[in-house]
Amino acid sequence: MSESKIKSVAVLCSGGDSPGMNCAIRSVVRTAIGNGLDVYGIQRGYAGLLEGNVKKMDASSVGNILQHGGTILQTSRCPEFHQPEIRTEAAHILKRKGIDALIVIGGNGSFNGAWELHKEHGVLVAGIPGTIDNDIEGTDYSIGFNTAVQTAVEAVDKIRDTAHSHDRTFVVEVMGRKSPEIALHVGLCTGAENIILPTKDEINYDQIAADIKRGIKRGKGSSIIIAAEGEKEGLSHRVKDELLNKHGIDSRVCILGHIQRGGNPTAHDRFLASQMGYIAVESLCRGEKAIVTAQRKGKILAVPFEECLGKKFNTDPEFLDIVKTLSI
Ligand code: F6P
Repeated sequence: MSESKIKSVAVLCSGGDSPGMNCAIRSVVRTAIGNGLDVYGIQRGYAGLLEGNVKKMDASSVGNILQHGGTILQTSRCPEFHQPEIRTEAAHILKRKGIDALIVIGGNGSFNGAWELHKEHGVLVAGIPGTIDNDIEGTDYSIGFNTAVQTAVEAVDKIRDTAHSHDRTFVVEVMGRKSPEIALHVGLCTGAENIILPTKDEINYDQIAADIKRGIKRGKGSSIIIAAEGEKEGLSHRVKDELLNKHGIDSRVCILGHIQRGGNPTAHDRFLASQMGYIAVESLCRGEKAIVTAQRKGKILAVPFEECLGKKFNTDPEFLDIVKTLSI
């Protein structure tokens, strides 16, 4: 371990929480201590930073947390942070508190805030991808996605039991306003007959109905449609109504909602979070100024912040083909 370029670091969680954030906080705190840094936890994201809600942490502050969902630091969405003058205030607070670098665990909006802080005020920043949506550009996975998918898969397996018993069709709504990732993974893992993704395209109800009817013809009892919530509330009920009114197919709706955001993180998310926290701190100690920890081809790397701005939309058409081929 060589002499660190910084003396202190703060960590915050921002945006929607995701299982594994605690594990990342633990990793940041203990790696910072290992490097001889003072480490601070900022409560409730950027909103807490603006209130000066910052407390010093030690090894015990993060004891017995890695297996728990949620975040001990809590989180928030902070639309005010889009305003440059608010970010100036945040930079001043960091300076006044003697914080040399900021680690942000969150998704796209949170990363944009960190990047602006860096560009405008030279704040040293590291981003750790933490969102169940898995929609951050530049990393294969974000912390919490694997757990959210696992939670939803377990729920859909249960729904399949009752769907099968009653020869029923279910529309199961998963999270993802703009991100197709949870829907795609859950759809494939549960053998869903159809997946509705959050695209601007019209939903092809004729196709969905034809698929269900074809299944029934070959003796299939149940059908599951996985629908990503999309941006307009009430999607799954609209799907139910269309299927009934235009195609005579009765169905039940189940919205999984925020259960996908909670629960103990899977081993995969703990593995990811532990490494990402460590690499974020080590990179800042080495003198990196603005990086994101990203998983690429199975390896966790520190990559330039700019590579991880914006949303990724990689709905691989082959992936959809696999789902279709397997669910006949
Ligand atoms: O954090 C991501 C996410 O869970 C999305 O999947 C979902 O659309 C959104 O957050 C819900 O946000 P909120 O909890 O603020 O309603």
